[in-house]
This record gives sequence, C-alpha cells and structure tokens, in this order.
Amino acid sequence: MEFTLESPLDMHVHVREGAMLERVTPLTADHFAGAIIMPNLVPPVDNLERLLWYRDQINAAKGDATFDPLMMLFFRNYSREELEAAREHIFGIKLYPAGATTNSEAGVKELSAAEDTFALMEEMGIPLMVHGETHGFVMDREKEFLTSYAYLAEKFPKLRITMEHITTKDAVDLLDQFENLHATVTLHHLIITLNDVAGGLLNPHLFCKPIAKRPEDQEALLATALKAHPKLMFGSDSAPHPVSKKECCGCAAGLFTAPVCLPTLVELFEKHDALDNLQNFVSGNAQRIHGYTPPKTTVTLEKTGMEVPARYGDVVPYRAGETIPWAVTNVQN
Ligand code: DOR
Ligand code: ZN
Repeated sequence: MEFTLESPLDMHVHVREGAMLERVTPLTADHFAGAIIMPNLVPPVDNLERLLWYRDQINAAKGDATFDPLMMLFFRNYSREELEAAREHIFGIKLYPAGATTNSEAGVKELSAAEDTFALMEEMGIPLMVHGETHGFVMDREKEFLTSYAYLAEKFPKLRITMEHITTKDAVDLLDQFENLHATVTLHHLIITLNDVAGGLLNPHLFCKPIAKRPEDQEALLATALKAHPKLMFGSDSAPHPVSKKECCGCAAGLFTAPVCLPTLVELFEKHDALDNLQNFVSGNAQRIHGYTPPKTTVTLEKTGMEVPARYGDVVPYRAGETIPWAVTNVQN
C-alpha cells in the first residue's frame, strides 16, 4: 500500500545551531519541501544579518534535499527601514512573551508596547506568529492568552496572525471568529494529553510548552486536523534537546518529532479514515493562507514499517524504539 504527499510543509520547527543544526536539519529537509524556522537562538535571530547567516547554515546542512527554509525574525520593535530591508528574506515574525519558553527571555513584556510594529507589519503584509501563553497557571496559560489574540485580530484586521501550536478546544473555537486568525498544531498535541506526560511515571520526553492538556482538548484538536479545517496548518514544533537536558532536574521543554512526523500523520489519518484530508492539512492550507508556493516534491510512504531509533546522536526522538507502520520510501523532486 502506498500513499503520496505533494510538497509537505512544516509550519513551525526548531533546528537550533552548530552540531545540533547539522544533525537535525536533514531530518526535516528530507521529508518536507519547506519549513518555518523558529528564531529562538541565543542571542535571538532579530536582525537581517543574523537571519541571513542562519539561513546559510541551514542551506549548507540540508544537503541535496529540495527544501525551502522559511525564515523568521524574533519579534522586537522594528523600524520601518529594518522591515523594508528584511521583507523579501522573511516569512514572518515570531513573538514570544518574555520568559514563556526556551530562549524567550528577550521576548515581549507588554503587548501594548509592540503596537507600532504590529501596525507596520499589517501595512507591509508581514505575518505575525505568536507563542500565545500568559504566565498564569500552566494549564490555563493558552486560554488566558486568547483575549490577547482577539484584541490583536480586531485591532489589526489586516495583520495575518497565527496562533502557534494550539493545545486547547478554546483556541479551536476562536479560529472561526476572526478572519485574520489562523493556527498551527503539532503532531504530539493531536495524540497526547497531560496524562501521557505526568499521569504515571514522569516522561520528560513528552514535556513541552504549551504543556499537553485534557482529553477533550486533544479530541477537539484531532477532529479539527482530521477534517483539515481551512485555517489550521501542520507545524510540528519539533524541538530537539540533548538527552542530558531532558533526563535531568530542570528538564527542557520540547519533543523531537521531525523524523516521525509524516509516518505518524499518515498512520493517524488512516486510522480515522481521513487520509483524503491530509494533503490540505500538511500543505494546501498553509499555501492558501500565506499565498506561498513551495518547491515541488512528491513524498511516497509505504507500509514497510519505520523502526524509530533510540537516539539520533544525543537526541531521543518521539516514539523512540517503536515501529511505525508507515515509512517514507521515496522523495521525488
Ligand atoms: O516545547 C517547546 N520547546 N516549546 C517552545 O515553545 C519552544 C521549544 C524549544 O525551543 O525548545
Ligand atoms: Zn516552537
């Protein structure tokens, strides 16, 4: 049995830098025709020079793969001149509330202080991607942030806003209320709940931000993805950390899912008899929302089985040691 995907896109991925970048970039580039590259390095990717340097690192690491790295600036207040210079090189700007997650210390403290830049982005057609969490109780952080999304969507009606890695039914419900509001969802939030993270023995490899939520949230996310809701895009949030930073006190947030995304998505959509919708979920919706045409690739998956290794270097992948029924067997450019 065979299943093909045309130009799959990962609309949210972390590839880090240095040796980690060299290890993980090919794992995304081999399967995806393009991916949005998150800018939360230390220091952040918050100027054009650093962004072009970062893009060069990724292009050097991707090997022969046909892969378009879609570069993001880290949100700060930018001048019109800075944005004009950056415009043709960036896909969007990623906003982190200060301290919300890995390497976000340089993020935004008050949204109200960022409005001049939002207005410029709206005028210039630069999309805004947001890590939407408050500093409240961990299970309520996304829900509490939804009022900020609503405020921004209303105040800047032409600003294309993406709620990154949504984890709640409340966020799903907000999607339909504002034309300019979109969302990405990860693979893992379609599958796991807080029980998988902390319901039995603690599993640090499933710890991420935003934390996985309740069964009704997971069910709502999955149902929305399975029907390829037109405003929902796949964004893995694959976020590798070395095992020493995961299996320790003070575990870093993030799942490394890049190598298993497509096989697991095909498995999941097949199980729910929704394979016909997968193309839109992993590519079509993102193309339409952003008016973006990716390089043409055809990815073939077959039921030959993928044995997920225990480690990729010093990184433990999601589903380590499992055999996934589907494997990527060919990528045609
Ligand atoms: O779990 C996460 N890991 N969530 C994020 O928002 C950031 C990411 C990372 O960079 O490690
Ligand atoms: Zn992320």
